[in-house]
Amino acid sequence: MNDALKTDQTVPDAELLAAARAVFANAYAPYSHFHVGAALRTPDGKLFSGANVENASYGLGRCAEQSAVQGMASSGGREFSQILVYSESSPPASPCGACRQVLFEFSPEAQVTCVNHLGEVVEGQVKDFLPHGFRLEHGKN
Ligand code: THU
Repeated sequence: MNDALKTDQTVPDAELLAAARAVFANAYAPYSHFHVGAALRTPDGKLFSGANVENASYGLGRCAEQSAVQGMASSGGREFSQILVYSESSPPASPCGACRQVLFEFSPEAQVTCVNHLGEVVEGQVKDFLPHGFRLEHGKN
Protein backbone atom coordinates (compact mmCIF):
# COMPACT_ATOMS: atom_id res chain seq x y z
CA MET A 1 0.00 0.00 0.00
CA ASN A 2 1.05 3.59 -0.68
CA ASP A 3 2.83 4.80 2.47
CA ALA A 4 0.64 7.91 2.54
CA LEU A 5 -2.51 5.81 2.96
CA LYS A 6 -3.21 4.84 6.55
CA THR A 7 -5.28 2.02 7.97
CA ASP A 8 -7.36 2.04 11.14
CA GLN A 9 -6.17 5.48 12.24
CA THR A 10 -9.43 7.18 13.12
CA VAL A 11 -13.03 6.62 14.03
CA PRO A 12 -15.02 7.75 10.98
CA ASP A 13 -17.13 10.92 11.17
CA ALA A 14 -20.51 9.64 12.45
CA GLU A 15 -22.64 11.97 10.35
CA LEU A 16 -20.85 11.13 7.10
CA LEU A 17 -20.90 7.43 7.94
CA ALA A 18 -24.66 7.52 8.57
CA ALA A 19 -25.25 9.34 5.27
CA ALA A 20 -23.04 6.93 3.31
CA ARG A 21 -24.70 3.89 4.89
CA ALA A 22 -28.15 5.26 4.12
CA VAL A 23 -27.37 5.84 0.46
CA PHE A 24 -25.52 2.49 0.26
CA ALA A 25 -28.93 0.88 0.77
CA ASN A 26 -30.14 2.60 -2.41
CA ALA A 27 -27.33 1.42 -4.67
CA TYR A 28 -28.61 0.06 -7.97
CA ALA A 29 -26.22 -2.81 -8.61
CA PRO A 30 -28.16 -5.70 -10.19
CA TYR A 31 -25.14 -6.79 -12.25
CA SER A 32 -22.24 -6.70 -9.80
CA HIS A 33 -24.32 -6.94 -6.59
CA PHE A 34 -21.61 -4.74 -5.10
CA HIS A 35 -23.10 -1.78 -3.24
CA VAL A 36 -21.16 1.40 -2.52
CA GLY A 37 -22.30 4.57 -0.75
CA ALA A 38 -20.37 7.83 -0.63
CA ALA A 39 -21.00 10.98 1.38
CA LEU A 40 -19.04 14.22 1.26
CA ARG A 41 -19.04 17.46 3.23
CA THR A 42 -18.33 20.89 1.78
CA PRO A 43 -16.39 23.54 3.72
CA ASP A 44 -19.68 25.34 4.50
CA GLY A 45 -21.11 22.18 6.04
CA LYS A 46 -23.38 20.87 3.30
CA LEU A 47 -23.63 17.11 2.82
CA PHE A 48 -24.04 15.33 -0.50
CA SER A 49 -24.29 11.61 -0.99
CA GLY A 50 -24.47 9.15 -3.85
CA ALA A 51 -24.63 5.44 -4.57
CA ASN A 52 -23.41 3.42 -7.51
CA VAL A 53 -25.97 3.16 -10.32
CA GLU A 54 -25.34 0.42 -12.88
CA ASN A 55 -26.75 -0.04 -16.37
CA ALA A 56 -27.48 -2.95 -18.72
CA SER A 57 -24.95 -1.28 -20.98
CA TYR A 58 -22.23 -1.95 -18.42
CA GLY A 59 -19.92 0.92 -19.35
CA LEU A 60 -22.61 3.44 -18.43
CA GLY A 61 -22.55 2.53 -14.75
CA ARG A 62 -21.78 5.35 -12.34
CA CYS A 63 -19.72 4.96 -9.18
CA ALA A 64 -20.93 6.20 -5.81
CA GLU A 65 -18.18 8.79 -5.43
CA GLN A 66 -18.97 10.29 -8.82
CA SER A 67 -22.69 10.42 -7.97
CA ALA A 68 -21.88 12.37 -4.79
CA VAL A 69 -19.56 14.79 -6.59
CA GLN A 70 -22.12 15.35 -9.37
CA GLY A 71 -24.70 16.26 -6.73
CA MET A 72 -22.34 18.73 -5.10
CA ALA A 73 -21.28 20.37 -8.36
CA SER A 74 -24.86 20.49 -9.68
CA SER A 75 -25.86 22.35 -6.52
CA GLY A 76 -23.11 24.89 -7.07
CA GLY A 77 -20.52 23.35 -4.76
CA ARG A 78 -16.94 23.50 -5.95
CA GLU A 79 -15.03 22.04 -3.03
CA PHE A 80 -15.35 19.34 -0.40
CA SER A 81 -13.29 18.81 2.70
CA GLN A 82 -14.06 15.14 3.36
CA ILE A 83 -15.53 12.18 1.54
CA LEU A 84 -16.43 8.87 3.14
CA VAL A 85 -16.85 5.72 1.03
CA TYR A 86 -18.84 2.89 2.61
CA SER A 87 -18.88 -0.70 1.38
CA GLU A 88 -19.30 -4.14 2.83
CA SER A 89 -16.11 -5.69 1.52
CA SER A 90 -12.81 -6.27 3.27
CA PRO A 91 -10.63 -4.34 2.85
CA PRO A 92 -13.10 -1.48 2.30
CA ALA A 93 -13.66 -0.44 -1.33
CA SER A 94 -11.22 2.21 -2.39
CA PRO A 95 -12.13 4.79 -5.07
CA CYS A 96 -11.42 3.46 -8.55
CA GLY A 97 -8.97 5.27 -10.79
CA ALA A 98 -11.66 7.26 -12.61
CA CYS A 99 -13.21 8.34 -9.29
CA ARG A 100 -9.83 9.48 -8.02
CA GLN A 101 -9.53 11.83 -10.97
CA VAL A 102 -13.08 13.14 -10.43
CA LEU A 103 -12.31 13.80 -6.75
CA PHE A 104 -8.99 15.44 -7.67
CA GLU A 105 -10.77 17.90 -9.98
CA PHE A 106 -12.44 19.59 -7.03
CA SER A 107 -10.41 18.86 -3.92
CA PRO A 108 -6.94 17.28 -4.06
CA GLU A 109 -6.45 18.06 -0.36
CA ALA A 110 -9.71 16.54 0.87
CA GLN A 111 -9.66 13.65 3.30
CA VAL A 112 -10.87 10.32 1.89
CA THR A 113 -12.09 7.73 4.40
CA CYS A 114 -12.91 4.26 3.12
CA VAL A 115 -14.76 2.20 5.72
CA ASN A 116 -16.64 -1.06 5.85
CA HIS A 117 -19.20 -2.84 8.02
CA LEU A 118 -16.37 -4.26 10.16
CA GLY A 119 -15.09 -0.79 10.97
CA GLU A 120 -11.93 -1.25 8.93
CA VAL A 121 -10.62 2.07 7.63
CA VAL A 122 -8.24 3.11 4.85
CA GLU A 123 -7.70 6.82 4.56
CA GLY A 124 -5.59 9.58 3.13
CA GLN A 125 -5.91 12.74 1.10
CA VAL A 126 -7.22 12.62 -2.47
CA LYS A 127 -3.71 13.45 -3.67
CA ASP A 128 -2.37 10.42 -1.80
CA PHE A 129 -4.80 8.19 -3.66
CA LEU A 130 -3.92 9.93 -6.95
CA PRO A 131 -0.34 11.18 -7.03
CA HIS A 132 0.38 13.47 -9.99
CA GLY A 133 -3.32 13.89 -10.86
CA PHE A 134 -4.16 15.72 -14.05
CA ARG A 135 -5.18 19.41 -13.87
CA LEU A 136 -5.89 22.16 -16.35
CA GLU A 137 -5.56 25.80 -15.33
CA HIS A 138 -8.94 27.49 -15.32
CA GLY A 139 -10.88 30.41 -13.88
CA LYS A 140 -13.21 30.13 -10.88
CA ASN A 141 -16.31 29.07 -12.82
N1 THU B 1 -17.83 1.13 -7.52
C1 THU B 1 -18.07 2.33 -6.91
O1 THU B 1 -19.22 2.78 -6.79
N2 THU B 1 -16.99 3.02 -6.44
C2 THU B 1 -15.71 2.60 -6.58
O2 THU B 1 -14.80 3.36 -6.34
C3 THU B 1 -15.43 1.23 -6.97
C4 THU B 1 -16.52 0.56 -7.71
C5 THU B 1 -18.97 0.40 -8.05
C6 THU B 1 -19.03 0.35 -9.55
C7 THU B 1 -19.85 -0.87 -9.79
O3 THU B 1 -21.22 -0.51 -9.76
C8 THU B 1 -19.55 -1.76 -8.61
O4 THU B 1 -18.95 -0.94 -7.62
C9 THU B 1 -18.64 -2.92 -8.92
O5 THU B 1 -17.49 -2.48 -9.55
